[in-house]
Amino acid sequence: MIIVTGGAGFIGANFVLDWLALNDEPVLNLDKLTYAGNLENLASIEQDARHVFVHGDIADAPLLAHLFAQHRPRAVVNFAAESHVDRSIKGPEAFVQTNVVGTLHLLEASRAYWSSLEKEEQQAFRFLHVSTDEVYGSLEPGEPAFTEQHPFEPNSPYSASKAASDHLVRAWHHTYGLPVLTTNCSNNYGPYHFPEKLIPLMIINALAGKPLPIYGDGQQIRDWLYVRDHCSAIRQVLERGSVGETYNIGGWNEQTNLDIVGQICGLLDEWRPLPDGRSYRQQIVFVKDRPGHDRRYAIDARKLEHELGWKPAETFASGLRKTVAWYLEHPDWVANVQSGAYRTWMQTQYAETALA
Ligand code: NAD
Ligand code: DAU
Repeated sequence: MIIVTGGAGFIGANFVLDWLALNDEPVLNLDKLTYAGNLENLASIEQDARHVFVHGDIADAPLLAHLFAQHRPRAVVNFAAESHVDRSIKGPEAFVQTNVVGTLHLLEASRAYWSSLEKEEQQAFRFLHVSTDEVYGSLEPGEPAFTEQHPFEPNSPYSASKAASDHLVRAWHHTYGLPVLTTNCSNNYGPYHFPEKLIPLMIINALAGKPLPIYGDGQQIRDWLYVRDHCSAIRQVLERGSVGETYNIGGWNEQTNLDIVGQICGLLDEWRPLPDGRSYRQQIVFVKDRPGHDRRYAIDARKLEHELGWKPAETFASGLRKTVAWYLEHPDWVANVQSGAYRTWMQTQYAETALA
């Protein structure tokens, strides 16, 4: 079996759902259920015996030791993190605690367990750390996309904490020989994305008749990848990636924020036209910029494409259509997230499976 951390969040939940749709190998899902953890994302596998949910913290060393001893995983996939840049600017401490200290404890628990294995099991074991393109800093227009050799130049408390965790993972391989893999992915979008992030926020605000807040001039560039393509890349790196290596993941899809919001408005104009015939674009407002706002990210994914033969299944046009359609088809998920009701639902629904 494998341990997945942060599997009740956006990408982790997509990963667990896809994993169990493709494999019979069980998943132990360790998640602290912060505001970003939502077990409604996993409602479709609620009765699935292959999914064991544990409510807990990756920084809880005794809990980790117990879980490793009890479940004897062949791999750990670490999604657990504080992930929102704006929150990191307002309150950096939680980011250092989970992203740095939490990763340290997960590495240490993995190392202790891995050291106790027979040689063959040791060789097969993997610790896959899920990270971000933001560790590489910000690109100027025309500069080549980030390769795995690009220096680390993190600019926000979030990206600095992720960069620190990437360095820990590297050091645990170099010093102790732990068989690690690291992935650095560009911006994801898709189902179950928490509506504090650009794409779901814009869809939900547009439908609610609220302003669509664009930071600064809206000309910042992000490189967008459909979440299930990120998950397929992680599965390939886990199975066939070279130990100790890092792999960039991205779909060669750079877009300005303003273009992204324009395309969302275009789809909503087509599928949910406003009664007065005007476009949702009228709701766009320009607001104060994010402090230290990175101007451009772009991922060079050739290593992953050439070494492992990975390719994304979605184009941005097809992925965005799926995403907007998903939010239109899941008003209850949106309402529960907005009201906070998903937290109550979690307590009642999962009380028995929670260890902590
Ligand atoms: P998210 O915020 O949606 O989910 C994070 C999950 O981790 C939540 O379920 C939360 O409850 C859990 N968690 C937080 N602290 C924890 C702790 N101490 N112990 C156990 N669980 C904890 O994040 P996401 O967007 O799904 O991102 C997942 C990972 O992918 C993160 O490591 C992030 O840095 C990375 N990443 C995200 C993107 C993106 O565009 N969202 C892109 C590249 C990489
Ligand atoms: O690049 C990968 C990273 O992408 C991940 O590591 C992070 O976890 C993830 O949150 C994301 O970070 P960003 O800061 O790029 O994503 P966010 O959705 O917060 O913002 C995307 C862009 O849109 C960014 O330039 C800021 C801008 N923005 C965002 C919000 C929420 C706005 O203009 N208005 C908004 O209201």
